[in-house]
Amino acid sequence: MTRLAQVSDLHFGSEDPATTETLIHELNRARLDLVILSGDLTLAARNDEFERARDFIDRLEAPTLSVPGNHDITPWNIPERMFQPYKRWRRHVGEDLEPTWFSDDVAVVGLNTARRMRFKLDWSRGSLSRAQIRGLGARFEGAARHAFRIIVAHHPFLEEEDGEFATKPKAIVQRAQRALAAFVDERVDLVTAGHLHRTYAAAFQTPPATAAVVTEVGEPQHRVTVIQAGTALSSRTRGEANAFNLIEIEAGRMEVHPVSWTGVKWERAADPLVRIDHPSATTP
Ligand SMILES: [Fe+2]
Ligand SMILES: [Fe+2]
Repeated sequence: MTRLAQVSDLHFGSEDPATTETLIHELNRARLDLVILSGDLTLAARNDEFERARDFIDRLEAPTLSVPGNHDITPWNIPERMFQPYKRWRRHVGEDLEPTWFSDDVAVVGLNTARRMRFKLDWSRGSLSRAQIRGLGARFEGAARHAFRIIVAHHPFLEEEDGEFATKPKAIVQRAQRALAAFVDERVDLVTAGHLHRTYAAAFQTPPATAAVVTEVGEPQHRVTVIQAGTALSSRTRGEANAFNLIEIEAGRMEVHPVSWTGVKWERAADPLVRIDHPSATTP
């Protein structure tokens, strides 16, 4: 079995040190193949926050794959924000802002959605460029045919529609619809994101009009599942406990299990948030 964890919005600078220790212990105990860190490692991109994030990464036994969040670009040093927005990230976390990690049964591709500025006032909102979307196919080159394809980004792609804190459309990453269509084309199975500090799942499917055409030539509709992770450590929770997502892959099936902090221990949800069979399992 391949086991990944998606750990999001750690926000070092607002963490509880005791809970941090339990999280490191829990992630090491799970014998993970990869820990995905989907942005907002810090609260305000201060060097001491990045140092604590680095220490956290160093103490994990599994390799990590990280993409930046909006909080990981300094809000205080404007020249640095404009001209070297990832200086601190690169020094403490890694050179590559969009890393990839491939194994026999999973291909994980990072996308950087954090922006140093936008032409609108809200700089916390994320965006994907046309070039990032166009380049997606090349990012998956070399992935095994039966590998589940996973995208990692900080900002959300789909709203939570019925939840207590229904997502505001402006929290959704810019060009989300275009990106989701490209994810369908590239047969992406799962998108993991954070930013909202809420755990939920949503799905995107080829629109029916296109699907009818596609079905005629014998190819099934492709479904992209989006999962959001809560904040793993920050006290800035939105009515939910601290949580992360455990992703388990075995025999062509992928399951996502939220794991939440009860105040005493990390507890895995009774039922998976999503269960996905690899498309090749249902098509010859
Ligand atoms: Fe966050
Ligand atoms: Fe964020």
